[in-house]
Amino acid sequence: MTSRKPIVAGNWKMNTSIAEGLALVDEMLPRLQAIEAVERVVCPPFISLSAIADRLRGTSVGVGAQNMHPEPKGAFTGEIAPGMLEGLATYVILGHSERRQYFSEDDAFVNRKVRAALGIGLVPIVCVGETLEQNEQGETEAVVTRQLRGALDGVEHISGVVKGANKTIALIRGTIASLAGEPTASGVRIQYGGSVTPDNFAAFIGQPDIDGALVGGASLKADSFVDIVRLAAAQP
Ligand code: PGA
Repeated sequence: MTSRKPIVAGNWKMNTSIAEGLALVDEMLPRLQAIEAVERVVCPPFISLSAIADRLRGTSVGVGAQNMHPEPKGAFTGEIAPGMLEGLATYVILGHSERRQYFSEDDAFVNRKVRAALGIGLVPIVCVGETLEQNEQGETEAVVTRQLRGALDGVEHISGVVKGANKTIALIRGTIASLAGEPTASGVRIQYGGSVTPDNFAAFIGQPDIDGALVGGASLKADSFVDIVRLAAAQP
C-alpha cells in the first residue's frame, strides 16, 4: 500500500485582519508544530500572506494562497500573479467551488492556473465537486470527472497536485488512474472538504481514499483546527 502523508489545510477565506491572522497562528503554532505526521497548511487572505509567511518561516507549518491568476503579469486589476507568491506561499488553492460559483471560473481557466502554479513550483490544491443541485440531478459523476479532466488537462506531474474534493472521493482516484496510471493515482493525496469539524472528521479520515481535509470555518478557531490535525495524525 502506498503511504501518503496526510495533509490538512485551513482555508480562512475572506476572514481575519492581519492582526487577527497573526494572533490565530500564534495561538496554534506550538501545538501544530508538534504534529509532524501531518502536513499542516494555513491559507490566509492575500493581504496577510506576507506577515503570516514571516511568522511561519522556519517552522514546519506551510502557507498557501487561496487563489492566483494564471498570467505572469499584466493589466488584471486586483489579481495576484504566480510569481508574486514566491517566497510567501508553497501551496495554492485552485478551482474552489466559491471561485467557480461566484466568479464564474471554468475548467479551462482552472487548468491554466494549475499549469502556471506547477510551472513555478507551487503545490496546487485543486478543488472539484458538484453543487447541491447537480447532486440532486444525479450529475455528480459527470461533473467531477469533467472538472478533474479539465483541471489536469495536459498536466504532466499529476502526482504533485493535491485534490480537494467535496463528497465524491472514490471517483477521483479512479479518474486519475485513467488519466495518469495506477501508480500516480495511488500516490496522489485527496482531501475532503466541506463543513469539516472535529466532530465529523474521524469518519472521513477513516476512509482509505481520504488523506486529509480542506477546512474552512473550523480552521478559524485554533482549538478546532488543531483537533482536526490531531485526528489526521492519529490514523494508523
Ligand atoms: P467549510 O469550507 O469547511 O467552511 O465548509 C471548506 C472550503 O470550502 O474550503
